[in-house]
Amino acid sequence: MHKIGVFDSGVGGKSVVAAIKQAVPDLEIVYAEDPDNVPYGDKTPERLIELVIPKLKELESQGCEVIVVACNTVTTTIIKEVRRQIKVPIVAIEPMVKPACELTKSNIVAMCATPVTLKSPRYKELLKTNAKNVKVIEPDCSDWSCMIENNEHNSDIIEDRIVEACEKGADVIVLGCTHYHWIEEEIKQIANRYNAMVIQPEQAIINQLKRVLEQL
Ligand code: DGL
Repeated sequence: MHKIGVFDSGVGGKSVVAAIKQAVPDLEIVYAEDPDNVPYGDKTPERLIELVIPKLKELESQGCEVIVVACNTVTTTIIKEVRRQIKVPIVAIEPMVKPACELTKSNIVAMCATPVTLKSPRYKELLKTNAKNVKVIEPDCSDWSCMIENNEHNSDIIEDRIVEACEKGADVIVLGCTHYHWIEEEIKQIANRYNAMVIQPEQAIINQLKRVLEQL
């Protein structure tokens, strides 16, 4: 049985673990998070390197053969450094700009992500390459990771931001932070009223993980 590590700042990656377990039951999964420093969505890249690399090295030293970085904030800011310092294969989640731009019919997409992800050069690069004729709006989700991490669910805030995005014409809503996977059903119910779709990357991550596992 293969052993893999999954990492996120907090509870976001646990939704990814649940999806992986369902799709690939025959796996030992070690989960690592950073309860002392979550949320990551307000940290500098330098700070993220300090926090994340030791956690991933720990997973490596526990014998994980692959590490899933289930955190868009980490991927979009420091993935190069992660790949430089970590020797096992890395499967990394990043905001689904390309699929969203391919799916949209209104040419308006809403990207829900942390402030650090939205500021990152990698995200800007994804926009530049894939969103030439598509307007990508960025609802203010800056308080969502904390809300979800601390179990302080606030349906009014979620409703407000998603309705606003749909009323601006977004027909594809991207969950660009794994914490938001926990409120996917709620977001879908709101988006359904506007015939907008909600996408998140778990299936893509599972496919990529399977490819990597086959090559071990
Ligand atoms: N779940 C993470 C992400 O996908 C980070 C959330 C946070 O710590 O702010 O971006």
